[in-house]
Amino acid sequence: MEVRAVTCVTYSPTRTTHKVVSAIATGLGASAITDVDLTWRKVGIKVTVAPDDVAVFGVPVYAGRVAATAVERLRTAKGRGTPALLVAVYGNRAYEDALLELADLVVASGFVPVAAAAFIGEHSYSTKEAPIAAGRPDVQDLEQAHAFGRSARALLESVTHPRDLVPLVVPGNRPHRRGMREGDVAPSTLPDLCTLCGLCGDVCPVGAIEVGDAVETDGLACTLCSACIKVCPTGARVMEDEGILRTARWLASEHGARKEPVIFLP
Ligand SMILES: Cc1cc2nc3c(=O)[nH]c(=O)nc-3n(C[C@H](O)[C@H](O)[C@H](O)COP(=O)(O)O)c2cc1C
Repeated sequence: MEVRAVTCVTYSPTRTTHKVVSAIATGLGASAITDVDLTWRKVGIKVTVAPDDVAVFGVPVYAGRVAATAVERLRTAKGRGTPALLVAVYGNRAYEDALLELADLVVASGFVPVAAAAFIGEHSYSTKEAPIAAGRPDVQDLEQAHAFGRSARALLESVTHPRDLVPLVVPGNRPHRRGMREGDVAPSTLPDLCTLCGLCGDVCPVGAIEVGDAVETDGLACTLCSACIKVCPTGARVMEDEGILRTARWLASEHGARKEPVIFLP
């Protein structure tokens, strides 16, 4: 089959997943690329991808699973035997069952997974004091993402229909491991540094932040994605929860050694 149009479907609060998927889409070399970014869209937006398009799904890994908000929003994507590339981006610890969960999700929605990859992105909890995969994906990662797109293109061009390919095997377990536990934890705002500019509220994927005379955060709705911390221009938005800070220090010390992307082709 020819690779003519590519639809990228991503969820990416701190943008690392989006960067990786964009590089893969360029590597696929299609004449048309559609960017369906579900990060700030509410559940219910429908995306239908034609059978002769290629879809690229990109999600961040939370607790070894696909981030739960991404699962909800990706369910609205429908394929009709459409070939799909699967991409999980993780913060240099592990991606565990996330790729398999993503494969199960897209198969149930009418896609045919043909290739998959796990890439590394700066950990959402990474700070100057406790850096975890800081600056990833870097130039080297994005070159590998581009090369993955080129390999996937060659693979698709080698068959008439994606169903003619040897089935793709991705790692992971069923049932999938236990995901994130719910809790009432969220970043906080230091009033002395906050200018009430509202950027934190704008980037929150779940609308958990209200900015008026002060910044109010709904800790039960917060997914800890850290988009608000990374976007804050004055450093007023911070994580103060001792449990998360301990986890961040542990990740920096135990998972500081650079990991490399892995690619799965049939
Ligand atoms: C709540 C939460 C849980 C996470 N769990 C994992 C994990 O299990 N393994 C890992 O390596 N990274 C984990 N991460 C890090 C993200 O997968 C990583 O930072 C990713 O690059 C974020 O993608 P984004 O930039 O598209 O939002 C977690 C991040 C958050 C916020």
